Amino acid sequence: MRILLTGAAGMLAAEVVPELKKNGFEVFGYDINQRLPDIQALDITNAQVVFKTVQNIKPEYIFHLAAETDVDRCEKDPDHAFRVNTLGTENVALVCQKLGIKLLYISTAGVFFGDKQDPYTEFDIPNPANVYGVSKLQGEIIVHNLLSQYLIVRAGWMVGGWEIDKKFVYKIVQQLKEGKMELRVVADKFGSPTFTKDFAKNLVALIKTERFGLYHMTNKGAGSRHDIAVKIVEFMGLGDKVKVHPINSAEYPLPAPRARSEMMRSYKLDLIGLNMMPHWEKSLEEYIRLNKNR
Ligand SMILES: NC(=O)c1ccc[n+]([C@@H]2O[C@H](COP(=O)([O-])OP(=O)(O)OC[C@H]3O[C@@H](n4cnc5c(N)ncnc54)[C@H](OP(=O)(O)O)[C@@H]3O)[C@@H](O)[C@H]2O)c1
Repeated sequence: MRILLTGAAGMLAAEVVPELKKNGFEVFGYDINQRLPDIQALDITNAQVVFKTVQNIKPEYIFHLAAETDVDRCEKDPDHAFRVNTLGTENVALVCQKLGIKLLYISTAGVFFGDKQDPYTEFDIPNPANVYGVSKLQGEIIVHNLLSQYLIVRAGWMVGGWEIDKKFVYKIVQQLKEGKMELRVVADKFGSPTFTKDFAKNLVALIKTERFGLYHMTNKGAGSRHDIAVKIVEFMGLGDKVKVHPINSAEYPLPAPRARSEMMRSYKLDLIGLNMMPHWEKSLEEYIRLNKNR
């Protein structure tokens, strides 16, 4: 099967592309800049170029991963957020509609407001707490309205790629590598870590079923940023040396409001017997074991 993939230079694509190739799919990778030799340049905000590119490649499936994922940038520049995450998705979905192509759209736990005590399932009603969340949710709505053969898969706090990871886990690892003996980590924000390696494997299994629709796909379990940092320290072998102090998010102000909870349960995968995601602690331990001496 021929797959055109947007956001090919990103953190998630770094695991999804090799997993697809391993499973015999032919992948054509695109990103806004041609940063890697086997990736072509494509700006998803340019509707005409998107159409021409897709028409040229004639894929059976588009994996739409490209997005503006900097939550604070989205808050400061909503036009940019909606142009990339919402209209960019509309451009891709419209081509799929016109040419009869299946679409996978990656969405986020950020579509939820965050006041639910239990993890969010696919049957909870979204209500985003920031511009990034609104722009991604509007992308979901467009995909749902324009297409019937689509998958929308919501991921949680993404982890992968070790030093290319710009997110939480590597930020903590970096501080440990710099020799910090005391860390201050937010204890009042909760989420479900999502390891890109596990996600890529489960995603390929889901694609093969052709069970279209909306899914959550995160590692099992959930925790606060503080819980995760404590486990990182433990798995780095520094449990008796480094102290991890819990702090309140009010002590660490950021431009975009963050939901109290971005915990999700992969409930539909559970119901159809396709939840292959390990518990996040198990994946974190393995991730650190494989990478810590790099
Ligand atoms: N990271 C997370 O924690 C997380 C969690 C849940 C869901 N997601 C979703 O998962 C998907 C993949 O995320 P990721 O973590 O791999 O993000 P990422 O590393 O930021 O990758 C996204 C890629 O899209 C590119 N891009 C941005 N604007 C574009 C445009 N106009 N045209 C074409 N490409 C463009 C980015 O380039 P630049 O780097 O140059 O902007 C980047 O290479 C996204 O849809 C995201 O919303 C991410």
